[in-house]
Amino acid sequence: MNVILLGPPGAGKGTQAHLLMEHHGMRQLSTGDMLRKAVKNRTEVGLQAKAIMDRGDLVSDEIVSALIDNELAEMPADMGAIFDGYPRTEAQARDLDEILSRHDRKLDHVIELEVDEDALVDRITGRFTCAECGEGYHDRHKQPEREGVCDKCGSTEFKRRPDDTEETVRKRMAVYRAETAPILPHYERKGIVTRIDGMGTMDGVSRAIEGVIAS
Ligand code: AP5
Repeated sequence: MNVILLGPPGAGKGTQAHLLMEHHGMRQLSTGDMLRKAVKNRTEVGLQAKAIMDRGDLVSDEIVSALIDNELAEMPADMGAIFDGYPRTEAQARDLDEILSRHDRKLDHVIELEVDEDALVDRITGRFTCAECGEGYHDRHKQPEREGVCDKCGSTEFKRRPDDTEETVRKRMAVYRAETAPILPHYERKGIVTRIDGMGTMDGVSRAIEGVIAS
């Protein structure tokens, strides 16, 4: 099973990708996470990507498609992939078709999370993650059970993303509308797009996604 999760910043792609990994043993392929790791490790890709990400623009198609290609090459052939934040342009959608066919995989579903943009600003500017294990939290929607202690690994260190300011979030949303939303017809022609209301609870959205992949 290979699935694309599409939606603007804060739509819940990462949250739902984690749930799919837990429930189905699939692997999340998040180009955002890969790029943040490259920035942290100060690799050549990271040095090129940092300023672009900080202002909410898109990193080059060549870089992100190569990241995805390399990850798929390392994965067991029978492990499902969840594409989170990729593809984001028409060129990336074409790249992915070619990459999947080279790795003998086929795309089963493209799931678009439909959301209200003003609510997303609240979601994104309030989110933080455990610095140790990456578990996601939110100032208002999902606090750790014990204040200041990660539920999953017990760490007391948390972090926030530098591109999670209101100004950058609005820029990322505009980029989504201009560059990413137009790739949907590419998949609609293949008959594999399902739109889900992303404004429900995390569990509700998860149940809707489970319904799609069981179909
Ligand atoms: P990326 O890391 O992909 O960021 P994004 O697409 O902007 O998406 P986010 O991670 O911000 O949001 P999400 O949809 O995963 O939401 P989440 O689950 O965290 O990309 C970052 C940057 O990298 C880009 O701007 C670009 O520069 C570069 N980049 C990455 N990929 C690229 C590519 N392919 N091409 C070119 N450049 C690329 O949820 C958000 C918050 O809401 C969390 O706190 C969560 O707990 C909460 N939440 C989630 N669901 C719910 C719910 N149902 N109800 C209430 N709260 C919820």
